[in-house]
Amino acid sequence: MEIIIERDKETGSKLAARIIASQIKKKPDSVLGLATGSTQLTLYKELIELHKTEELDFSSVISFNLDEYVGLSPEHKSSYHSYMWNNFFNHINIKNHRVHIPNGIAPDIEDHCKQYEGAIKAAGGIDLQLLGIGSDGHIGFNEPTSSLSSRTRIKTLTQKTIMDNSPLFKDNEEIPRHVITMGVGTIMESKTCLLLAFGKQKAEAVKLMVEGPISSDAPATILQMHQKAIIIIDEEAASSLKRADYYKWVYSNKPDWQKYS
Ligand code: F6R
Repeated sequence: MEIIIERDKETGSKLAARIIASQIKKKPDSVLGLATGSTQLTLYKELIELHKTEELDFSSVISFNLDEYVGLSPEHKSSYHSYMWNNFFNHINIKNHRVHIPNGIAPDIEDHCKQYEGAIKAAGGIDLQLLGIGSDGHIGFNEPTSSLSSRTRIKTLTQKTIMDNSPLFKDNEEIPRHVITMGVGTIMESKTCLLLAFGKQKAEAVKLMVEGPISSDAPATILQMHQKAIIIIDEEAASSLKRADYYKWVYSNKPDWQKYS
């Protein structure tokens, strides 16, 4: 795990955008796993900026989103389809047919999940998976006690997650209790994981993920076993870490050839 502690959400998101941009430049047809939530909004703005000012080209990129609410149509204003198109896809040159987001109104959810897994495989697997973390330690919507080898499937959200997600939900509607989410096993197969967490409310989850024992009680802890997990956090999210100074020391002593350009 590489832990990068940035001053704030803005500098953290800029660095994350640079890492994603260099992945796309290295491999224009990169397969990106994408996340929603409030954490990612600044990052998507940065990527849109890079597209506009530096011609970052998304035309060959293939994307797979982590999750979607069950029962919401893609057109629903609070669906993750709407989130992705409104906050990101409509502002870059990604091709519609290369975008994949689970369908919350699929008539046969189990079959849809199998097909989603198949589509990820057929695309060659995920090169870079973007992640946020829930305050209860979830990644994707793999809530506490999710199997650490799980695949894309339906999950029930915890009441805490439903409350945490409410700010992004429009018109005080009732938030669906179920989601389709990539599994922990699916996420672990990606070549690189890039997880962002900002703010005091994430400090405990970040501490568990980085320094806690690996346990399905906080599924993000499994990232300790990932071959290449980059964790970008701000000072507030880092505030409970025992070894924060060491992580800063490691990052500031990174050899030039290993640095993110
Ligand atoms: C969203 C997702 C979730 C969020 C997490 C943090 O696609 O997979 O794991 O990343 O719930 O959400 P925010 O960023 O709203 O705090």
